[in-house]
Amino acid sequence: MKIALLPGDGIGPEIMAEAVKVLDALDLKLETETAPVGGAAYEAQGHPLPESTLKLAKQADAILFGAVGDWKYDKLERALRPEQAILGLRKHLGLFANFRPAICYPQLTAASSLKPELVAGLDILIIRELTGDIYFGQPRGRRVAVDGHFPGTEEAFDTMRYSKPEIERIAHVAFQTARKRNKRVTSVDKANVLETFQFWKDVVTEVHAQYPDVELDHMYVDNAAMQLVKAPKKFDVVVTGNMFGDILSDAAAMLTGSIGMLPSASLDSNNKGLYEPSHGSAPDIAGQGTANPLATILSAAMMLRYSLQQPQAADRIESAVQQVLGSGLRTPDIWSEGTRKVGTREMGDAVVAALTTKTITKS
Ligand code: IPM
Ligand code: MG
Repeated sequence: MKIALLPGDGIGPEIMAEAVKVLDALDLKLETETAPVGGAAYEAQGHPLPESTLKLAKQADAILFGAVGDWKYDKLERALRPEQAILGLRKHLGLFANFRPAICYPQLTAASSLKPELVAGLDILIIRELTGDIYFGQPRGRRVAVDGHFPGTEEAFDTMRYSKPEIERIAHVAFQTARKRNKRVTSVDKANVLETFQFWKDVVTEVHAQYPDVELDHMYVDNAAMQLVKAPKKFDVVVTGNMFGDILSDAAAMLTGSIGMLPSASLDSNNKGLYEPSHGSAPDIAGQGTANPLATILSAAMMLRYSLQQPQAADRIESAVQQVLGSGLRTPDIWSEGTRKVGTREMGDAVVAALTTKTITKS
């Protein structure tokens, strides 16, 4: 099994190092190869997603991704900005199904910005369509307006669009995933205003006919944003388009106390996937050894479960993380009174130690 490691920018390399340490401790005979991506790749090879990196990603059985982006690249033309690396990987590898779980670990209830009773036991899953919508729709660009409110002036435009098969396949993913959970799906749209999302709603409803055992409801995205912070536990599986999913998943992440805890998976139709923490590159704390590596470590666990058929190894990592949290270790982002503040490396070492202890007690 070959894993492509793409650490990227900012805190990416630091958190990746900890995840690799954890994978190594499992003794699974994984082959890994590292390649540059994002700003780091731009510096080294003049492009955020060099051909060689894309080739490695295509060859590998799974991809573990750190994070990309830094304000210092904001002035580059769009095609050369670090974010294009992740967008390019999603597009070239057909990674259309993005899983973003938001789980509030009991040990971290106090770190949430919401009242503990609203988030204790929270376990929701946002399934975001990842290769369509306004993110990739053509045409897009700048031009001189010929109509609208100010004809003759400069304007910019993007295109929101979804084809029927694109909506169908993500709807199937959502319903099938719901079957393994609590059999409830909320489809989030903006059907009251947008043609694209009226179509989305119609197609999701049509696909639902094949899943009579799963409950489906529809919600407008503005209401969904409100309900997420008002009564998040009402949700189970949420399925939505690329842009709404981008926004809602950040909000959902914060409910759990820290975006530093949340893994994500982006899968193609054969369950080959790219795994990355839900947080970004955090250039403001890069190199300080304070970043939380747990989201990346948990992403590695997701990778073992979804793409590498190693569910037991995934379980081991997840329970090791629980154990470490239970023992009171916290990186600064999840620290609260009465717990012990540790750095990136110490957190990674603690997870490795917890894994090893488990093995000893079992044998
Ligand atoms: C995410 C990020 C990306 C996105 C950026 C970095 C292109 O915000 O994965 O949510 O908008 O999809
Ligand atoms: Mg985002």
